Amino acid sequence: MGKLHAFRGEMLSVDEDPLGLPEGAGLSYQADGLLVVEDGVIVARGDYASLATRFADVRVTVLDGLVVPGFVDAHVHYPQMDRIASHGEQLLDWLERHIFPAEKAFSDPAHASAMAQAFLGELLRHGTTSALVFPTVHESSVDALFEAALARNMRIASGKVLMDLGPDGLKDSVESARAETEALIARWAGRGRLSYAITPRFALTSSDAQLALAGELLAAHPDVLLHTHLAENRHECAAVAARFPDAADYLDVYDRFGLVADRSVFAHGIHMSERMCARMGQSGAGIAVCPSSNLFLGSGFFNFGQADRHGVKLGLGTDIGAGTSFSMLYTQGQAYQAALAREERLDPFRALYLATAGSARLLHIEDKVGALGVGQEADFVVLDSAATPLLARRCAGAGLAERLFAMQILGDDRVVSQTWILGECAWDRNV
Ligand code: GUN
Ligand code: ZN
Repeated sequence: MGKLHAFRGEMLSVDEDPLGLPEGAGLSYQADGLLVVEDGVIVARGDYASLATRFADVRVTVLDGLVVPGFVDAHVHYPQMDRIASHGEQLLDWLERHIFPAEKAFSDPAHASAMAQAFLGELLRHGTTSALVFPTVHESSVDALFEAALARNMRIASGKVLMDLGPDGLKDSVESARAETEALIARWAGRGRLSYAITPRFALTSSDAQLALAGELLAAHPDVLLHTHLAENRHECAAVAARFPDAADYLDVYDRFGLVADRSVFAHGIHMSERMCARMGQSGAGIAVCPSSNLFLGSGFFNFGQADRHGVKLGLGTDIGAGTSFSMLYTQGQAYQAALAREERLDPFRALYLATAGSARLLHIEDKVGALGVGQEADFVVLDSAATPLLARRCAGAGLAERLFAMQILGDDRVVSQTWILGECAWDRNV
């Protein structure tokens, strides 16, 4: 038996999508809770009063704040971190003008390593402990990220970007994509807490032959994810329709190459037909909703009502560098505002679900993280609802839902006082 370590504090997780459930269902909440961890894994969780005697000899760390599961960012680009807040364009022009030049610099492995370190540091500072990450087309950009994530024990999924129709200096070929992806899977998949995602950038940057290769790779490796972009921007959708006149719609383009499955994660899904949503719901594929990015690039507002009618699996992503914050709290607040723009209400507990267990479900890691359940890994964050003078005023005397919502609307990295990975403190605001 390993050494036990207990954590005492106010604890909240949203284990199940609360949509359609009676109020309070799907939540697990202890006003004064105890979380007991052995070798990084949760072995007990409940009210302090009911567990304290059973674990009387165990070292207890008191956590000052609201303890929630570590956030799971279901879509983020690490090479774009330093291009956040790049002015003036919608998606396709923004890629050409700001993003592709930045990604070309990742042909230098030293640059990739430095960026990967900085990126993972930002994730931890913002309370994000797991993420599905776009690197670049360069094989070494994946090595850099996985190496850094392995050293920090973080739960990261990623995979070399496939883009044989990309600009000069940022494109591969069908054959190099195959060889490099196979080599990376052999080198990294299943090591530590890492997992692999076949990552065609989007329909416009891969040839038909390369999209077919992505389908082949997905079929050949049952444990890998498929990660790409879908129906984000109107000009993008028009270009996809023009290139694939025989496809029923954008999702059908991916479907024809075997890319729509329950292991598939599609970022955005802003411009979705009923057919696309129905097919998505039936396939078990999921959407990483990226509201700060969608507002920043003028892409639109995610249609929660439509997706929910078809039972589409949803998670939340920052989509840095189109997204405007690493904070998954802020992203929850942005999701609320995107929903309201379409006259839908996003409940604060559901927003937290999307940022934790919902995203974990998209990444097929919901048995491991996202709900602070017994048997899960002890990745959690401590939120300080008095992090700023305004938050302190707004939260004074407020109930749980109101405090959570205020942190989603007003909060960011300032609210994250600590981030714990496998029961070890990986970030402390005051150190
Ligand atoms: N579609 C294709 N590539 C990208 C990208 O890098 N960012 C976003 N937001 N959308 C994309
Ligand atoms: Zn993206």
